Amino acid sequence: MKKSSVQEFLSGEKHRILIPQDEMQQRIKELGEQISRDYQGSVPILVGVLNGAFIFLADLVRNLTIDCEIDFVKISSYGDAKESSGHIRVLKDLDADIEGRDVLVVEDIVDSGLSVQWLRKYFTSRKPRSVRFVTLLKKLGSARVPYEVEYVGFEIPNEFVVGYGLDYAQLLRNLPAIYVLEDEED
Ligand code: IMP
Ligand code: MG
Repeated sequence: MKKSSVQEFLSGEKHRILIPQDEMQQRIKELGEQISRDYQGSVPILVGVLNGAFIFLADLVRNLTIDCEIDFVKISSYGDAKESSGHIRVLKDLDADIEGRDVLVVEDIVDSGLSVQWLRKYFTSRKPRSVRFVTLLKKLGSARVPYEVEYVGFEIPNEFVVGYGLDYAQLLRNLPAIYVLEDEED
């Protein structure tokens, strides 16, 4: 029987592991502690950017000791390609009214910076008290626009990664760690 892509990765035929599960959990614990300190006395709204951020958000909130609300947005900029087209559409908007609130946007990965730059402007226009970003991964050397991210889990090389919420053509999100997707041609 043909193996699934996930089985191929987990059996080591294709993968190069970049960040193992235990390292990720340790770093997310630290981020949770830092965010809990920084938002002491506030009830922030954490906004997960679908689909990629769903696992990171789930682990992050379980490491917060403050009260928080949770909401989601879904934007599209990629289709099934590995490179951003730079064109952003809102596929699912916030349900919450964020006026006067502290908003913490939760991203899986920042690559070109286009999504973060665009989302910051989009949320800021709704008059929140503050908007900050937390991302599990930040790629180095791939920025195409200036952007700011207040909390970063790991800085990683400019390679395409999958797992822990991150997909390639909608697959491999369910891998439990972060893996580099090696080019088939090489
Ligand atoms: P940006 O707008 O180019 O910064 O890209 C942000 C979005 O692109 C992320 O939220 C991911 O969904 C996707 N993305 C960027 N790099 C990767 C990658 O290496 N693997 C999987 N998805 C990625
Ligand atoms: Mg994505």
